[in-house]
Amino acid sequence: MPTIPNSATGAIITGWGTALPEKIVTNDDLSKTMETTDEWIRERTGISRRHIGGSTASLSIESARKAIAMSGVDPLTIDALILATTTPDRAVPATSSTVQHGLGLRCGAFDINAACSGFVYGLVTAHGLIAMGMRKILVIGTDTLSRITDWTDRNTAILFADGSGAALLESVSGPGQLLGWDLDADGSLEDLLYCEIGGKLKMEGKEVFRRAVRVMVDSAEKSMKSAGVTADEISLVAPHQANIRIIEAACKRLGIPMERTAIVLHETGNTSAASIPLALFDAADNNRINHGDNVLLVGFGAGMTAASAVIKWHKP
Ligand code: UT7
Repeated sequence: MPTIPNSATGAIITGWGTALPEKIVTNDDLSKTMETTDEWIRERTGISRRHIGGSTASLSIESARKAIAMSGVDPLTIDALILATTTPDRAVPATSSTVQHGLGLRCGAFDINAACSGFVYGLVTAHGLIAMGMRKILVIGTDTLSRITDWTDRNTAILFADGSGAALLESVSGPGQLLGWDLDADGSLEDLLYCEIGGKLKMEGKEVFRRAVRVMVDSAEKSMKSAGVTADEISLVAPHQANIRIIEAACKRLGIPMERTAIVLHETGNTSAASIPLALFDAADNNRINHGDNVLLVGFGAGMTAASAVIKWHKP
């Protein structure tokens, strides 16, 4: 289990932003085109509606602009842009290049694809780059899953949607916010959830559900252990917004009551790499996180990836 070296330069989030497409698709809208009902979707997933539209670059630019404005940093002083996405706009170049240009940045830019765990992968990577001397890094999680969703498949179409969340990280002297983290993957499970290039998402929903609870709990426990905190000391969990029943089962096993979770999935559906930042920054915007609180981010996704981090919240 990795521990953060005492000598490492730390970082804190000094600005954030989110973006959701304007178009809303309700469960009732879906029930007009496939064998499903609003009641079934709400009961089995917790989702009521989702936002559909835009491109990965356009949503990323929108959320990142808000994060830059909130932090007040000069965009030209940003050292790197990390875009976590599993739905790039083109195969080449990386969508982060389009976003970098759209934001008028002059810095290194690269995509990370760790599916729904991508934002946490990006966040941990950014802390590593800051430990190596960078000072300001944009981490964005964006997905436009609607473009690779089979809208005739009720197994997936009821879940997936589009959105973006961005964080601006700045270096600080001292340890910063990241107390513990874990990154994981099990490629032997890749057939449970995949999309061929040019194809549509295919998912073994029940098996993903079963594994999801286990890998979220495992990853969260590793992060909390490496951070030296217990479940009681976690003030808020921002979990991947896949299915409310997955979140309930994972939190129950972790011993964290649902009142301490950040939930947006009823409004957003599963937005993959965007889902953890959408939940985290919704909680922050609604003053649900106080300075000094321990916040657990935890996700899982195709690959089968899992990632978690415990951060000590710094209120900008
Ligand atoms: O980012 C990671 C992405 N993926 C996930 O997190 C997905 C994890 N899996 C899930 O969230 C759930 O497995 C689903 C929401 C996909 C499905 O829920 P479930 O509770 O596992 O349903 P099920 O597949 O066991 O189906 C139960 C019943 C079946 O009918 P019978 O055989 O009991 O008569 C299905 O045919 O519900 C039926 N069903 C539906 N009915 C209405 C399945 N999907 C639907 C639907 N609307 N959309």
